Order: sequence, then structure tokens, then C-alpha cells
Amino acid sequence: MNKDELITKLKPIYPDFEIEQKLPLIEEINKLKKEKKAVLLGHNYMTPDVFWGVSDIKGDSLYLSKMAAETDGEIILFNGVHFMAETAKILSPEKKVLIADLKAGCSLAESITRQDVIDLKKKYPGAPVVTYVNCSAEVKAETDICCTSANAVQIVNSLKEDVVIFLPDEYLASNVQKHTTKKLITHPGRCMVHELYTAEDIKSTRKLFDDLVVISHPECNSDVVDASDFAGSTSEMQSFIQKSNSKNIMLITECSMGDNLRSEFPEKEFVSSCQTCPHMKRISLEKIRDALLYEQYEILLDKEIIEKGKNAVRRMIEVSYKK
Ligand code: 13P
Ligand code: SF4
Repeated sequence: MNKDELITKLKPIYPDFEIEQKLPLIEEINKLKKEKKAVLLGHNYMTPDVFWGVSDIKGDSLYLSKMAAETDGEIILFNGVHFMAETAKILSPEKKVLIADLKAGCSLAESITRQDVIDLKKKYPGAPVVTYVNCSAEVKAETDICCTSANAVQIVNSLKEDVVIFLPDEYLASNVQKHTTKKLITHPGRCMVHELYTAEDIKSTRKLFDDLVVISHPECNSDVVDASDFAGSTSEMQSFIQKSNSKNIMLITECSMGDNLRSEFPEKEFVSSCQTCPHMKRISLEKIRDALLYEQYEILLDKEIIEKGKNAVRRMIEVSYKK
């Protein structure tokens, strides 16, 4: 993207003086990227300066996992949270994988340990374990197949067993349960951002706009998803908006997603307030510059964890992208 295109993308979000302040840093990062042969992956929840300014490959968790396995840079810098960078390391163990802030965690990933999964496997022998990618590499190592919000129903229904251990998001599980005859064994994990939304928010906003389209993330509780017109992963939300004729959109997800869509679809109105993920917001241009400059903070994983985790993530990619 050239400088003028970038300014057009940033203008709906930042005042002119802030864009002027950001441009030299964005230029410095893009120069460092070339020198270090680094590829920057950027999740849809990154702030617009990080998302549009410096991320080479942008998307939802599923797409970024696939691209982490395919990218040809010597360094992968993951603009997202820790579990995403670990997934990139699992898929590209020969590469140096960095994250700009090691504290960029996730309430879902923190809700479950490897031992919790081992205990559940003992309790439900023979039941395959599906884990949402929002979990640690250690948890992935105990997993049969991973999933994301884009493919969770497809992954569960691809299994032959009737009872499936589905971890760690209880709300995603309840939304998947409506689309499968299999019995899901769940765990009480929640996304600290999406659990804050209620169906009441939707009802009151609908009263204000005739043509309102409500789009939610499946990490919301099932009342919210049921009250929405569409629920899907962050990239599925983007595709839905692209096809929709409605002007007024209520987006039930993290704030930066709305900002990035506002830049992409300036003709649409994104109504209502949003919730911020404090983990995603730890990633800033300044920290990205330092991460490239000092090649920090490197994701290091045991060989055993990589080998076991790789099976679960690769299996997910195979099922999702099979022709
Ligand atoms: P997706 O991009 O897969 O929808 O993930 C949402 C999320 O919460 C990532 O932290
Ligand atoms: Fe985790 Fe929710 Fe933040 Fe995504 S938005 S990183 S699921 S806490």
C-alpha cells in the first residue's frame, strides 16, 4: 500500500496530526522488515495503524494459521496475541517467531491447562478432543484437532465419534451444539470481551435503526448470537458486510475490528459502542519497531509440544481447506 492509500485508510480513524506522527514510525518498521526478511502477520483486532500500516498478511485466526505455515520470511512477527504466535511457531518451527509483547495473552487460553485436558480425557475415554486455537501450545499438544470460530461446526461434524470434548470456550460450544447431533463436553472458559455483550444491547439498538444488520462473534453467548442476523469469525464478518446492502451495522466484537471495517467500508455506519481486548491492545507500533530491531520476544517451544501440537493444527487446516 502506498503512502496516499495508507492515509486514506487511516483518515476515518485518526486526526491528521496523529497520522503525521505515525507515518515516520510506519516507514521505519517497513524498512526494518525488508532488512530482516521478516513477515508481519496481523489479526483483524489490531489497531488500524498496525493493521493497515505494517501487517503484510491480515485476517482471522484460521487464515493466519494457514499463512504462518506457508510464509517464506526468515522471521515471523505476529501482530496478535501469544497463542497465535505459538501456533505460528508450531507450524513453522524452523523460523524465528516473535511477538512484540509477551504479556499479550487471552482469557480463553488462560482458562485451561494441559492437566485439565488430561483429566477430561480420563473421564471421557474414547472421546476426541477438539480445542479452539485460543489455547496454549501445551493444550494443543493434548488435542486431536483444533478449530477456530470459522470452522468449529465443520470440524466437530467431521469426527466419527458421538461424544466430543470441546474446549475451552463454553459459549462457542453452546453455539456449535445447535448445529450438531454430537454431545459436546465443555469447559467454563470465556472471552472477556465477547461475554460482555447481551441480547438486550441488540434489542435496544434495533429500535433506533430500520435497516440495522447485527453481526456477532460466536464467542458471544447464544442469546446474543440468536438475536443477531449473522455470526461468524472476524473475516466472515468482513465478507458478510461486503455483500450486505444495509447502511447501518451493529458489530458485536472487539473495537479495532470496527475501526478497520470503517476504513474499508467508509459508506457504512457502524453504530453502538464496542468492547476492547486489553491483550490485543498491548501491540503497538513502538513495540513492533523494537521487536524487529532487537529480534524480541522469541517464542520457544519444546520439540515434543511442537510435534504433538502440529498434528492438531495441521489436521484442522486439512479439513478446512480440503477441495
Ligand atoms: P477469529 O479471527 O478467528 O474470529 O478470532 C477471534 C478472536 O477472538 C481472536 O482472539
Ligand atoms: Fe482472547 Fe477474547 Fe482477547 Fe480474542 S478478544 S484474544 S478471545 S480475550
